[in-house]
Amino acid sequence: MSKKRESSEDFTEKSNNNKQQKDKDSKKKMKKSHDDIDNSVEESTTTTTTNNNNNDSIKTEIYDNDDGINKCTGKKYSKRYYDILEKRKLLPVWEQRSEFINKLKSSQVLVLVGETGSGKTTQIPQFVFEAGFVEKGTMVGVTQPRRVAALSVAKRVSEEMDVVLGEEVGYSIRFEELTSEKTFMKYMTDGMLLRESMADPLLKKYSVIILDEAHERTLSTDILFGLIKGVLQKRKDLKLVVMSATLDAGKFQKYFNDAPLMKVPGRLHPVEIYYTQEPERDYLDAAVRTVLSIHQDEDAGDILVFLTGEDEIEETCTRVAREAKQMQLPPITCLPLYSTLPMSQQSKIFDNYPHRKCIFSTNIAETSLTIDGIVYVVDPGFSKQKTYNPRSRIESLLVSPISQASAKQRAGRAGRTRPGKCFRLYTEKSFKKNLPVQTYPEILRANLSTVILQLKKLGVDDLVHFDFMDPPIPETLMRALEVLHYLGALDDEGELTKDGEIMAEFPLDPQLSKILVSSARYNCSNEVLTIAAMLSVPNVFHRPKDNRRDADQTKKLFDHIDGDHLTLLNVYHSFKQSGENTTWCYDNYLNYRAIKQATNVRSQLARILSRFGVPLVSGDINSRDYYINIRKCLVSGFFMQAARLEKKNEYFTLGDEQKVMLHPSCGLDRRPDWVIYNELVLTSSNYLRTATDIKFEWLLESAPHYIDSLLDPSVPQKTRQNIERAKKYIAMTTSFTDYPKLKSIIEK
Ligand code: CDP
Ligand code: MG
Repeated sequence: MSKKRESSEDFTEKSNNNKQQKDKDSKKKMKKSHDDIDNSVEESTTTTTTNNNNNDSIKTEIYDNDDGINKCTGKKYSKRYYDILEKRKLLPVWEQRSEFINKLKSSQVLVLVGETGSGKTTQIPQFVFEAGFVEKGTMVGVTQPRRVAALSVAKRVSEEMDVVLGEEVGYSIRFEELTSEKTFMKYMTDGMLLRESMADPLLKKYSVIILDEAHERTLSTDILFGLIKGVLQKRKDLKLVVMSATLDAGKFQKYFNDAPLMKVPGRLHPVEIYYTQEPERDYLDAAVRTVLSIHQDEDAGDILVFLTGEDEIEETCTRVAREAKQMQLPPITCLPLYSTLPMSQQSKIFDNYPHRKCIFSTNIAETSLTIDGIVYVVDPGFSKQKTYNPRSRIESLLVSPISQASAKQRAGRAGRTRPGKCFRLYTEKSFKKNLPVQTYPEILRANLSTVILQLKKLGVDDLVHFDFMDPPIPETLMRALEVLHYLGALDDEGELTKDGEIMAEFPLDPQLSKILVSSARYNCSNEVLTIAAMLSVPNVFHRPKDNRRDADQTKKLFDHIDGDHLTLLNVYHSFKQSGENTTWCYDNYLNYRAIKQATNVRSQLARILSRFGVPLVSGDINSRDYYINIRKCLVSGFFMQAARLEKKNEYFTLGDEQKVMLHPSCGLDRRPDWVIYNELVLTSSNYLRTATDIKFEWLLESAPHYIDSLLDPSVPQKTRQNIERAKKYIAMTTSFTDYPKLKSIIEK
């Protein structure tokens, strides 16, 4: 039942009274609303939240009759263990420990809903283990939508259990696994569990699976819902816990055949909401201003600012630190938080500081990670979200308005420790009118080709009748099948091909998997492995704010005349030649961690290729064809990401005729007629990032079906005309001895 109250102007004035003078700067535009954070769970007939009388029996058994010896390791508990234990006992889920265990005993599936920070992610897997649900030799697997969360929570829980991370408690995220024979509790991304199910469709390694953060409805979690629902029928010994931070648990219950619900009441303090009175022109400016004014005027308490990505976060973080200093404000510790941040830096957000700390974070801090001590939240109202246009087949990460549900979660972060305040950098009207009520499930807005390839490999052929919680839009499904067909992963009958079998094994997009699979045919698997690895790690080029020019000059030394993919190859080779030297990286403005990670990713990908008998080969570097072969191989996967030069610096994407430019970081010193690109960056102007010079002939040779499909009347006329023109030109000028396959294609 919603407890939403109407906003009250009276209250606004009273409460702002004593601050009115000081708040001139930014908050004069802020309007307070009583639209409070109501995360209480709706009443449901299927549950009881009253605690059992024998509530503490199990707790007593395990924790109070403690003989000082850790049952997991046989070692004496450390002092830290007891310190943390005291804190754990205060978490809301502890009150319902017995209730949880009893409910899980009597049901195969349990839906658990609880306020962020109530202890679901860290405590529930431990309860599951202690109560004996984890059969010997098996594990409890806990999924997270985000890598950072999986990693950080695994670390925290290993500390809580007083074990070494990677031994009893481990984690598994893409390209990085830390587990051992002893591991009985594994935190992992939902994508990794989906991968595991390909090799182990009944998920036999697990006695209990916990799908955490289910409210986020990521693509992988949605697919896991369907797969695990099937496994539960075949394996009566498997238990599933679905955990969510929001109210819409009814949907999960219904989907899992009316599974029982358990709710953990939150212990949330009230949070006052402030809105701006006018829309903000620049939300970064507004965020900086708001943080500074909180720091100046408000009582002690940490600040959490939600931003959309790494660049924005780094920039704002630096700006606030600098301006606070210039304004001679008291010390403030500014900390960034995003997924590619090194672990050592990430853990700083949990440290205590003698003065105020301010964390600038992506969505990760919305529900995945709980940071204690936050009293002020600054919410500009945006996040990066995947959007997919099935018509143009373009998937992009767009900065988009968040949902009302997200905004409420964000505000809730301010009320963990004591009453807090949330500053929304948008108007109340905008909150009500422009923000969607709920976040749209990713399955309805993402490119499905990767998961469909996985489902095919799993033998799920009838996608139309797959038990989706929310079925994807048929057109998106069709497009995904089409893409896989063009890539040669599916044959004309829609069956997985030999290439498709191998492609499904790579934890990569089908485009990247495809270039790996075809690399040996182009005699360049060694090189393409390197390129694929370099494309799978964070940006290797470092551009410090105060040294941009020097950094750009240095990058030129690595630039390859034919394009950025080959530049990445140069960087990797030079890194190897330097003996993987950190100083060398620093001097050359290269991100050591990223390249080092690429070496690791490369060996993992190489292992998969070798497993399928694809030879690791290289051409003769002095031959004319050496780089041509690599570029042709790139085209074999990226033909759907091609663009054509129209004039001067203007490119148009093939297929949907979007006007784009080469990104300023692009190292090409000329403007080739045709390029393929790795990424389309949509900002105020549209850019192609990581582009390589190609020939139209290669497109035609690699993907005749795809090019043919672009002659369909539904495709923009300009694309059709250009393809016709290019084909004619080839027919007139090309020596077909060089392109035997082309002859028949052209003549068709
Ligand atoms: O999953 P849920 O949001 O319900 O809570 P949780 O992630 O289990 O967090 C419970 C508590 O564990 C938090 O309030 C933090 O005090 C603590 N925690 C921590 O100190 N460090 C972490 N990396 C994760 C949690
Ligand atoms: Mg959690």
